[in-house]
This record gives sequence, C-alpha cells and structure tokens, in this order.
Amino acid sequence: MKPIKAGLLGLGTVGAGTYKVLQRNQEEIRRRAGRGIEVAMIAVRNLDRAKRIVGSDVEVVVDPFAVVNNPDIDIVVELIGGYDLSRELVLQAIANGKHVVTANKALLALHGNEIFEAAQAKGVMVAFEAAVAGGIPIIKALREGLSANRIESVAGIINGTTNFILSEMRDKGLDFATVLKQAQELGYAEADPTFDIEGVDAAHKLTIMSAIAFGIPMQFGSAHIEGISQLQAVDLRYAEQLGYRIKLLGITRRTTVDGKDGIELRVHPTLVPGARLIANVEGAMNAVLVQADAVGATLYYGKGAGAEPTASAVIADLVDVTRLATADPYSRVPHLAFQPTELADVPI
Ligand code: HSE
Repeated sequence: MKPIKAGLLGLGTVGAGTYKVLQRNQEEIRRRAGRGIEVAMIAVRNLDRAKRIVGSDVEVVVDPFAVVNNPDIDIVVELIGGYDLSRELVLQAIANGKHVVTANKALLALHGNEIFEAAQAKGVMVAFEAAVAGGIPIIKALREGLSANRIESVAGIINGTTNFILSEMRDKGLDFATVLKQAQELGYAEADPTFDIEGVDAAHKLTIMSAIAFGIPMQFGSAHIEGISQLQAVDLRYAEQLGYRIKLLGITRRTTVDGKDGIELRVHPTLVPGARLIANVEGAMNAVLVQADAVGATLYYGKGAGAEPTASAVIADLVDVTRLATADPYSRVPHLAFQPTELADVPI
C-alpha cells in the first residue's frame, strides 16, 4: 500500500524531532501504522536551516497554505505554535478534508471548541496527544484507558520548564534567569517563555485535560492562573526545611459550590509534602495523577518537554490517524476529535 502523506507546518524543535524519529524508526512505524508515513512537504520560516535538516528529500516551502491546500497531503501536522495563523491553517486544512495532528495546546485551549466542531462536521480527525505533557500518553489514558470511570480529579506537574527551574534553583542554588536560559537552550521553553513562567502554558494543558476528563468544552478563560515568577530561592529553602517542596501544579476537579456542581481549573505554586511521589518529580519531567471511581488513583510520569519526547506523541497520533483513515476510508469517523458531552460551570 502507498504511504500516507503528511505535510508538516514548522520545523523547529518539535518539527525537527518528529522528522528525525520518523526517519530513524521508519520500519517500526510502518508496521504499527499498517503503511508508511511519508513527509511529503514542510512549511518553514528558514529554508536554509530546513535544507540542512531534511536535505533534498522533501519539498520545503515558506508558505504554510501551500501545505494545507496541497491535494496530495492527507494529514497536516501543525507544529508552528501560536493561535492566530495556526487557527487559520488548521481550519483551512479541515475544510480541505485533511486530518490534523497538532502539538499546539494554546490553539486548542483557546479555539478547540471551534476546531473540533469543524472537524466533526467535515468528518476528519484532530489528534493532539503532544499538546499535553510531552511524551506521556495522558490524552489516550483519559480518553481511552479510563473511559469506564467517572473521573474525579486530574492534577500534576504539566510544565517542564518551570519544574526544571524550581529543581535547579533548589538543588544548585542557581538564579532564575540562568536556569531559564538553560531551559530555553534545552528546547523546553515556549517561544514566549512568559507562558511557562506565568502558568499560562500549564493552564492551556489543564484546560484540554479537563475537557477530556469531564466531557466539557474548553474553558481556558475560567482558569485561575498563577506562575512562579514571584518565587525566590529562599521560599524553596524554607519549604524544604518544613518538609515540603514547592511545585507548580495544575489541578482540575469536580466541585460543588452552593449546591451547584461544577468543575474547577487552577494553576499555582503548591506546597507538596516531601514524601509524596509528585514532590520528587524533578527537572523537565511531568507527572499527572488521576483520581477515578473504578480504578482509583493512577499516576503518569515521563518527559514533559523536549524534541524527541514530544515527537514521540506527535508520531503516535500520526500512526493512529493513519490506521483509522486507512481502515475505513469511506466513512472517516472523527473519533479522535474531542466531543464534549456535558456542560458545566466552572466556579473558582
Ligand atoms: N514549554 C513546555 C514545557 C513545552 O516546558 O512544558 C512542552 O509543552
């Protein structure tokens, strides 16, 4: 069978990692997907840099619309970030009947409702495992692994940059700016690192997990968001002396306020007792704890940022979409697109 054709939007840290892993593990990926996955076109900002990464094997263009409007492309992989141009590109890809894989949490947290509605109307898939917690398959766990459960809460460390900063400041006594620079060099931080530091990136991811866990629309605007910029090394030391660690946690759970059921969404630095597993998650690692009625507590741990861990999730989505699109090419059931089932208020 002919390979399925993917078009990449962006060849930055995650895009380059995705291309590299797709080449390196070509055989395994082909077996698991049931057919090859070929990167047929890539839209980039810097043509020379892109040529150094992909050589002349792939058509490289500067106009991203050339990818989403290319009739030969089956799946568009959106890795450019941001939420204005990426929204336009994703909606155009969907309108053209293409499946979409995206790692863009900001896009989904802000425009996910519109995007999923468009995908459902068109009968295409939108897959987004890489948008939350890097290489940890938490979307799959919430949507598939725990689908028998009533989920009570989802909480954890979902931003690698801030966890790395807190760990390094505490262990090495380094100052905030030095560690942030390291996080940027290691490819953990967002293009605008204030999203990491001020908790916005974590809130984007929390919004997505909350929607999947509780079947509600994306409600980023209702999240309480507080980052780590006000923390000082002395806070971390005092916490340690008291037997705690300070972690930037994202927490979403069912609540009842004045007899009214709702969902709470919050991101803020939290004192976690030192003996807890989550207190010992260090560096750019992420960990997500899910409380559900049938299975109880489950904990998911792994690399939450960086080129290859994120590429791992992007490619897993590519494999899923390829399998589903190939198995039933005549009725493209959009089961990867998120479908909200209930509405809930979000009291904070
Ligand atoms: N900036 C993000 C983080 C990248 O540090 O977690 C992964 O989403």
